[in-house]
Amino acid sequence: MSSDFRLFMTQLLRRPHQVVALAPSSRGLCAEMAAELDPEGGPVIELGAGTGNITAAILAAGIAPEDCHSIEMNPEFCDRLRARFPGLNVYQMSAGDCGALPVENVQAVVSGLPLLSMPTALQRDILTGFTQKVKPGGTYVQFTYGPKPPVTRTVREALGLTWRRSHKIWWNAPPARVYRFQQLGADATAAAE
Ligand SMILES: C[S@@+](CC[C@H](N)C(=O)[O-])C[C@H]1O[C@@H](n2cnc3c(N)ncnc32)[C@H](O)[C@@H]1O
Repeated sequence: MSSDFRLFMTQLLRRPHQVVALAPSSRGLCAEMAAELDPEGGPVIELGAGTGNITAAILAAGIAPEDCHSIEMNPEFCDRLRARFPGLNVYQMSAGDCGALPVENVQAVVSGLPLLSMPTALQRDILTGFTQKVKPGGTYVQFTYGPKPPVTRTVREALGLTWRRSHKIWWNAPPARVYRFQQLGADATAAAE
């Protein structure tokens, strides 16, 4: 068992309502989360980085550690992220405050948060922060294990968000899909579904 996996499981037992996942995201899910990132497209914000599996995929997509801004509220996960990814910007804070990060013109917010288990007010803060930080056409990338969009209808409608979703990633525990949200009018090719 890797030390990252052991740390994840220890924190899952200690803080089940924050971690809310059976295991760290699989390689296939992480690759899909990072699949549309552009190495020349500007900075990326990551939410709920955990032990860093999605972070690794973001960096593998060609984003420099200095251009990746990873928020994680768990101090032990933050220590692991700093040790694992030199140069990465790690912020120990709530994702609800992502609108206050010192970065602009972000190409994407990539989220490993348990969004559906969060109160609507916190979801709204997180997605409002996304709309403040991304450049036009920027995306909010979020995986979910369930059959519905992981951003509630109330928040989608309040912020004018459209979405599209990936194929199902079966080789993940549990199987998951990746949703990509954009603000209406931000990209003419995005269709409301
Ligand atoms: C499902 S785990 C995902 C971890 C990792 N990104 C992955 O995919 O393997 C959710 C992570 O979100 C973090 N988290 C939960 N609520 C948060 C919040 N309000 N602000 C920042 N991080 C949060 C947890 O500590 C945990 O690391």
